[in-house]
Amino acid sequence: MKNVIEINDLHKFYDKGSHALKGINLNVGEGEFCILLGLSGSGKSTLLRCLNKLIDSTSGEIRICDEDVIKASGKTLRFIRRQIGMIFQQFNLIKNLTVLTNVLSGKLGFVSLVHSVTFSYHQADIEAAMENLKRVGLEKFAFKKVKNLSGGQQQRVAIARALMQNPSVILADEPVASLDPATADNVMKYLGELNKKDNITVICSLHFLSLARKYGSRVVALKDGVVVFEGKPCEIDEKKFKEIYGEEAEEVEIR
Ligand SMILES: Nc1ncnc2c1ncn2[C@@H]1O[C@H](COP(=O)(O)OP(=O)(O)O)[C@@H](O)[C@H]1O
Ligand SMILES: [Mg+2]
Repeated sequence: MKNVIEINDLHKFYDKGSHALKGINLNVGEGEFCILLGLSGSGKSTLLRCLNKLIDSTSGEIRICDEDVIKASGKTLRFIRRQIGMIFQQFNLIKNLTVLTNVLSGKLGFVSLVHSVTFSYHQADIEAAMENLKRVGLEKFAFKKVKNLSGGQQQRVAIARALMQNPSVILADEPVASLDPATADNVMKYLGELNKKDNITVICSLHFLSLARKYGSRVVALKDGVVVFEGKPCEIDEKKFKEIYGEEAEEVEIR
């Protein structure tokens, strides 16, 4: 299996001296659905943000689709970012605009959403946006305002927007953390389909072990900026679980 993402001895220090990533080594192969577990503050968001250079890494190496992320700038950085669709817990949509406009904005990569509304779109882009809405089961909602959709539907709009770049990789930072369990499962189902049908490699942080087991092909757990577990979802037993989340973790909350 070809590696889409290669991370070697990655460190991240924030300005105030906090050492958020302490030598991460991780390869993610094409078509994997990698679940990132770990307590709040363990470094999940930092890792995902380093991967597409939303923040600068301090040292180490990241390669995505064979390109060096940490050294990348200009054209190479744009190429890397086009390969990566980002999904966030808070959806990051413009709620007063239509579903279609939000999805179309994904075509512009990292240009600010507000700026993109003045942009005129090509018919081909509109067709692609409708096709991507169909992939997340929302084609009927294209002309509704985002604010009138439920949380789960809004997250599916965000997924459709990410698909506008034809990404090789989707990085999802706690995409279901603000959703109820049934809706969370539904959103994960769409990510699972994209992973299987379109062979998009996924790294997704979350806290539900049940979802990790159902959708993940691999689990990576972080604790204090270090990888403390890496393996198949079914390998996480009671003991491992406590190692990841601490003795005092209430399993019922997390499962
Ligand atoms: N912008 C920042 N400035 C300083 N420290 C930060 C910043 N963002 C995160 N951290 C610190 O880095 C560590 C990892 O945080 P984060 O990556 O957000 O973890 P997670 O996503 O797993 O909750 C924490 O100790 C956090 O306080
Ligand atoms: Mg986080």
